[in-house]
Amino acid sequence: MRVTALPRSVAEMRRFHIEPGGTLNGTLEVPGDKSVSHRAIMFSAIARGRSRITGFLESADCLATLGAFEVMGVSFTRDGGALLVDGVGRDGLSAPDATLDLGNSGTSMRLLSGLMAGQAFDSVLGGDASLSRRPMARVIDPLTEMGARIAGSDGQRAPLHITGGQRLRGIDYTPPVASAQIKSCVLLAGLYAEGATTVHEPGISRDHTERMLGAFGVELTREGRALSITGGQSLEAFDVAVPADLSSAAFFLVGASIGENGELTLTGVGVNPTRRGVVDILKRMGADITLVDEREQAGEPVADITVRSAALRGIDIGATDVELAIDELPAIFIAAACAHGTTRLTGAAELRVKESDRIAVMADGLAELGIEVTVQDDGLTIVGRPEQHSFGGGHIHSHEDHRIAMSFAMAGLRASAPIVIDDCDFVDTSFPGFVERARNAGLAIESQEHDA
Ligand code: S3P
Repeated sequence: MRVTALPRSVAEMRRFHIEPGGTLNGTLEVPGDKSVSHRAIMFSAIARGRSRITGFLESADCLATLGAFEVMGVSFTRDGGALLVDGVGRDGLSAPDATLDLGNSGTSMRLLSGLMAGQAFDSVLGGDASLSRRPMARVIDPLTEMGARIAGSDGQRAPLHITGGQRLRGIDYTPPVASAQIKSCVLLAGLYAEGATTVHEPGISRDHTERMLGAFGVELTREGRALSITGGQSLEAFDVAVPADLSSAAFFLVGASIGENGELTLTGVGVNPTRRGVVDILKRMGADITLVDEREQAGEPVADITVRSAALRGIDIGATDVELAIDELPAIFIAAACAHGTTRLTGAAELRVKESDRIAVMADGLAELGIEVTVQDDGLTIVGRPEQHSFGGGHIHSHEDHRIAMSFAMAGLRASAPIVIDDCDFVDTSFPGFVERARNAGLAIESQEHDA
């Protein structure tokens, strides 16, 4: 049975229309974690036996990963709310008969490039216009050093053409930036390489790959910032319970903090220490956030999070914060715009190579809504407006970036006039059902169709 969904036609893009005011209240469950869902599909597909995934995020990005494995002969079945995956074993994938279309998903492309480099067959990894602009030299270089044959268009962009049947050898590698995607790519290729592969992390990056490979029976060792894997190991089926995505919860943490008299509880949210920078940053800004019932779920820490309205203050956000909150920074900028004082962000050059250039695109949107913002190469400075209406109304271009759209939606809670956000279809890459959940919580948001 095919579980994948076809993407919507680009001719009928959606825009968000947000009426000013409102407040966020109640209890909310955001969908499953995107990073964990990708890995659950990949690892269960190459494991021996049947794995059961609960809480899987049925977003366009994760369905792109799932679709790629369907094309390579893995079967997925729905069982109530769960997904059953019949793993084919580490060498059991079959050659795809077409380009693997990974849509908008950088995680799919970078992790799969490592996995595909170790296969006996050829593959081509492609994606949409945004993914085809994103830097891929960061995976091409280490894979080439391992003996893989992988070619990008102009040497460093998708589509990636991977020639199978190569003998990979383990390497010692220090990525140029702290990145879970690069680390995971090299470790996955390391599974298929001779000898040991070691990744020396230049900073902190999310550790879902290490945790989950361990749960699937793979031995990985860590010494300080060095992570090693020995080639030739097999994966055994494991039942993954995907937590709710902290990156999706982040919009609501900001929204409930900046709206008047907000009180919202987000249930079952992943609070992995390599990911929870947004909680610490918002608390430093004065946010009233409490983690309740911290527990472990299939190897990942999870908690309920309660957030209440609070007066926020501007702070300095530096490189270590950035590593722990890379995907949440657009939402944090909205909080900063409502804070008393100035917020200065540095060490965030990686934001420029996400689904959009998130420094430039957020700065343009903030300026459109009347916020004083200055841009540097690796960050920006935001002068907060703590008054009731921090934002004017305006028209925001999301640049087809899901996190830009959802961040500016929350600005409506403190705006003096309507905010309209274009090209919001891409919200489905990470957060299907965002509009309904946001409306139920108290945001006056409508999704409308418009011509692309
Ligand atoms: C991800 C890693 C991060 C993050 C992305 C998801 C992952 O990217 O921004 O949304 O699942 O490994 P980098 O590894 O490029 O920092």
